[in-house]
Amino acid sequence: MDILKIEHLSKIYGKGETAVKALDDVSFSVKKGEFVAIIGPSGSGKSTLLHMLGGVDRPTSGKVLVDNTDIYNLNETQLAIFRRRQIGLIYQFYNLIPVLTVEENITLPLLLDEHKVDKKQFENIVKILNLQTRLNHLPNQLSGGQQQRVSIGRALISNPAIMLADEPTGNLDSKNSSEIIDLLKMFNKTFNQTLLVITHDERIALQADRVIAIEDGRVAKDEVIRP
Ligand SMILES: Nc1ncnc2c1ncn2[C@@H]1O[C@H](COP(=O)(O)OP(=O)(O)OP(=O)(O)O)[C@@H](O)[C@H]1O
Ligand SMILES: [Mg+2]
Repeated sequence: MDILKIEHLSKIYGKGETAVKALDDVSFSVKKGEFVAIIGPSGSGKSTLLHMLGGVDRPTSGKVLVDNTDIYNLNETQLAIFRRRQIGLIYQFYNLIPVLTVEENITLPLLLDEHKVDKKQFENIVKILNLQTRLNHLPNQLSGGQQQRVSIGRALISNPAIMLADEPTGNLDSKNSSEIIDLLKMFNKTFNQTLLVITHDERIALQADRVIAIEDGRVAKDEVIRP
């Protein structure tokens, strides 16, 4: 089953002489549970693509269907709800809220959605991420690897169908980097969570089921490594 369908997606930033075509007629589909690595040179449009898939920013033209819902047909409120429930987003620099504790950062998406925190699920995630002893700490009291684990917790708490990660290990040393990728892979394999990871690291790309290369806003290569 295709959980994600991207049809003729284009994104132009700006207008007139300074306009930049960041995505140029991109189409592909992703199966539920697939682990896709997205590679390509700096400025090729990888982050733009991930933002369009995550409902963060609207495309100039084209469609994104998640579970057969055309997400850009939704109004802003519906899109925000969709994003919080269906999409987990992870960034290179964690994007945690500095004045909130680890526990508050992780449970924030549920609170925004006025959903109660399932204590068991929360404890389970915290245990897997090995953050039990850091729940009352602030982000700036944590190591980089710990901060990234918090951002994974925040992405996982609503049990999203799709996990989108933009260079999640770009700021980490190799030990922390493998730990983060192993965690993402574990959720991908155990819960059949669809995983898209942008990476410059070939070792990470080679662990994926499929590698999509973006160049100049287009799909330059799309290769299945593990069918
Ligand atoms: N908000 C924006 N306004 C204008 N142009 C933008 C904006 N965001 C991105 N761009 C341009 O769109 C193109 C694609 O950018 P994008 O961030 O998607 O690249 P990337 O592949 O993620 O690069 P990197 O590997 O360096 O992160 C670039 O030329 C960039 O300058
Ligand atoms: Mg980028």
